[in-house]
Amino acid sequence: MTSKPTLNICFVCLGNICRSPTAHGVFEQLLSDEGVQDLISVDSCGTGDWHIGHAPDPRAVAAARKGGVAIETQQARQLRRADFTAQDLICVMDRQNLTDVRNAAPPSTSAEIRLFRDFVPGNEGAELADPYFGADDGFALTWSQALEAAEALADW
Ligand code: 4NP
Repeated sequence: MTSKPTLNICFVCLGNICRSPTAHGVFEQLLSDEGVQDLISVDSCGTGDWHIGHAPDPRAVAAARKGGVAIETQQARQLRRADFTAQDLICVMDRQNLTDVRNAAPPSTSAEIRLFRDFVPGNEGAELADPYFGADDGFALTWSQALEAAEALADW
């Protein structure tokens, strides 16, 4: 029997092809490992519209695969007004995302908007590394930061 999710979480970055699909995939995997995937709904999107409909960046796919998580079937979408009522928690990757999401939020929003790495004790206010314009090893750092934050969020 599948139950209705009790919590809806959405990860948000700029393009929805690197950081938020990684966060989405790793957090979903942790929930599934714990057998609680039916209790929490996980989604991701981007504040920008450049990559709508695209699969995640192949470098993000490779880094996630190394960590045992498949993210290649995800499809980028843009943040929409309905997210502010459908989601309980919107986890953003950097301070620009935080500003953009807060600016897009209607006054009536019930969603909590937080930096993803805020959940890691001692990393409050820290940003998740944006690997898009850097070398491939930036994706390994993004992966490890996302895994750490996902574990902390799961504990929370
Ligand atoms: P993401 O990375 O926000 O982690 O998906 C980026 C993807 C695309 C761009 C920037 C960052 N871009 O400028 O197109």
